[in-house]
Amino acid sequence: MKHLFFTAFLLFSIITNAQKFEGLAKTPPMGWNSWNKFACNVDEKLIRETADAMASNGMKDAGYEYIVIDDCWQVSRDENGNILPDPERFPSGMKALADYIHSKGLKFGLYSCAGSKTCEGRPGGRGYEYQDARAYASWGVDYLKYDFCNTDTQKAEGSYKVMRDALFAAKRPIVFSICEWGSTEPWNWAKNVGQLWRTTSDIMNCWDCKVNWGGMGWTLVMDKNEPLAKYAGPGAWNDPDMLQVGNGVFTDVESRSHFTMWAMMAAPLITGNDIRSMTPAIKEILTNKEIIALNQDSLGKQGYRWWTLEGNIELWIKTLSNDEIALCFFNRSSEVKNINIDWKKYFGKLDGKSYGVTDKTIIRDLWLKKNIGTTAKNLKATIQPHDVLTIKLSK
Ligand code: GLA
Repeated sequence: MKHLFFTAFLLFSIITNAQKFEGLAKTPPMGWNSWNKFACNVDEKLIRETADAMASNGMKDAGYEYIVIDDCWQVSRDENGNILPDPERFPSGMKALADYIHSKGLKFGLYSCAGSKTCEGRPGGRGYEYQDARAYASWGVDYLKYDFCNTDTQKAEGSYKVMRDALFAAKRPIVFSICEWGSTEPWNWAKNVGQLWRTTSDIMNCWDCKVNWGGMGWTLVMDKNEPLAKYAGPGAWNDPDMLQVGNGVFTDVESRSHFTMWAMMAAPLITGNDIRSMTPAIKEILTNKEIIALNQDSLGKQGYRWWTLEGNIELWIKTLSNDEIALCFFNRSSEVKNINIDWKKYFGKLDGKSYGVTDKTIIRDLWLKKNIGTTAKNLKATIQPHDVLTIKLSK
């Protein structure tokens, strides 16, 4: 009997010790990830310089905090199974790098994979989950992106739960970013597993291209992510992948549309460009605090396509705290478009809901960063091809 009590006590303390972390990623995580621009070409110099840039170029000020090293930092395991960073590229080791990033007031993220190998063939986490989680915690990792390559017959939900429990057991609060590309509909199971889950295959550096293995341009990623709005909320985000803003393909207009739509969708804002050397225009886009405020709004609602206006203008809506609303008119076409919005048509009669909008509601243009009138009059505007008009309505 005594024995039984002791076992029960032991089990109880193991379970209660495996702490859960409440309050992680209450708003969509913001940061930088190495993959989109640098792929496997990562080393500690790049990461330190990126941290220096984020801390001093206005990004930290605007809310960015995570510096995440994606695939290829790891090379092998030692005879005890400990995961080893590439000694040539990361000679100071991960703890020193994390300390450096923390000294800048930023947070540190790493990538691994639920399978036996990562997507780039580096050692994966399978069978080493608890050992790896302990290593990450001891280094000072704050964010783990966990991929799903080389998983053989593994089930995604179970695999991610094992790693989640390993992170709990390691007792360091670590944001857990699930990356199985939406293949097992994680929005149905991942809410208490990680704080964000990829909803699509990889984002490509193009407007609407498709590659045979599934990668696609940002507008197509957006289309796949949009219908999942109802699953998002504080601590549980749909992740349409990292931004391609500033990677040399898009015009500044297209870049700001991409950034705005990610903000409207309450997507994690993980930049994927070289933030050490941005053009002033790209820097201004990525640090527009009024657009970021939409994304970081405490209600945590994911915006969605509300109407499609004549001529292929999409009107997106995101409800905000303080009874405010963000609207984004997105001209997806390659022609200049004019809009003439009669507010009564959108708020009140047709939709049946007023969203608190009266004819005294103030309209603010979030890219012009100024108030442009009230809803008493029709909103008339010209929208360039691929551009957005992004406004906030408030009392
Ligand atoms: C997958 C992920 C990408 C990136 C690469 C790294 O394709 O979806 O985001 O992490 O692996 O190999």
